[in-house]
Amino acid sequence: MEILLEAKELSKSYLLSPDHEQHVLKDINVQIKKGEFVSVMGPSGSGKSTFLYNISGMDKLSTGSVVFAGEELSSFSEVELSNLRLNKMGFIFQNIHLLKNLSILDNIVLTAYMAKKRSRSDINNRAKEIMMRSGIAELANNDISQASGGQLQRVAICRALINNPDILFGDEPTGALNSKSASEIMDILADINQSGTAILLVTHDVKVAAKSERVLFMIDGCIVDELLLGKYIKGDEDNKKREVRLTDWLSKMGF
Ligand SMILES: Nc1ncnc2c1ncn2[C@@H]1O[C@H](COP(=O)(O)OP(=O)(O)OP(=O)(O)O)[C@@H](O)[C@H]1O
Ligand SMILES: [Mg+2]
Repeated sequence: MEILLEAKELSKSYLLSPDHEQHVLKDINVQIKKGEFVSVMGPSGSGKSTFLYNISGMDKLSTGSVVFAGEELSSFSEVELSNLRLNKMGFIFQNIHLLKNLSILDNIVLTAYMAKKRSRSDINNRAKEIMMRSGIAELANNDISQASGGQLQRVAICRALINNPDILFGDEPTGALNSKSASEIMDILADINQSGTAILLVTHDVKVAAKSERVLFMIDGCIVDELLLGKYIKGDEDNKKREVRLTDWLSKMGF
């Protein structure tokens, strides 16, 4: 299958003082295929968020390269890079930055209006479709302050999807939610993935990671192993086994 995103010998260091450099990511090689759903797990401080920021072009690598759809991100100017992020990538994070004085719908469509690639009616139709899929269609005109944590996370997902990205990046997108809301959000993400959007997710939650196709394990800035689970199918009888396999694998890793 075609590769969408690739990290080659990706390293990231921070200069903490003139004689102290911290090597956070060390020669990481990862390939994400078109439409693939990959999770990253590992101990706190192992470099998962840093990896996500660097492979998505949000932060600058120290050495190595990142290739998106055949093009090296280092060859992009700042403007080209932000256009790429706006049009081809979606981001969902734990601390959702939504605008308080806009309605839910306005929060979702804002980046698409900014991109100025499609007509407003096209954008509004896309917003309706993804809000329907995420179960928040009836909240379109509500104020952001009236929404629950789970609803806000759905708004963040819709906002990330409004420009039809090739890939969605998530850093603990279910971290602040109770298990029922987290599970509903994961079903939405699995559904989005079924329609062809690749997903790269950082999570501590076994139930969340068990819905991805492949799980990478990171220790001390290196990807040390991976577990292939195959595509998740909602309602499949074998889904419980995925969680058991993942839990066993993680405990072998001492996690
Ligand atoms: N801007 C920075 N300057 C210096 N060090 C940093 C910076 N950002 C991250 N680090 C360090 O890099 C290491 C990895 O951090 P990172 O946030 O990527 O870990 P993580 O695996 O996402 O952890 P968690 O599971 O707790 O979110 C940590 O030791 C952190 O202190
Ligand atoms: Mg993190």
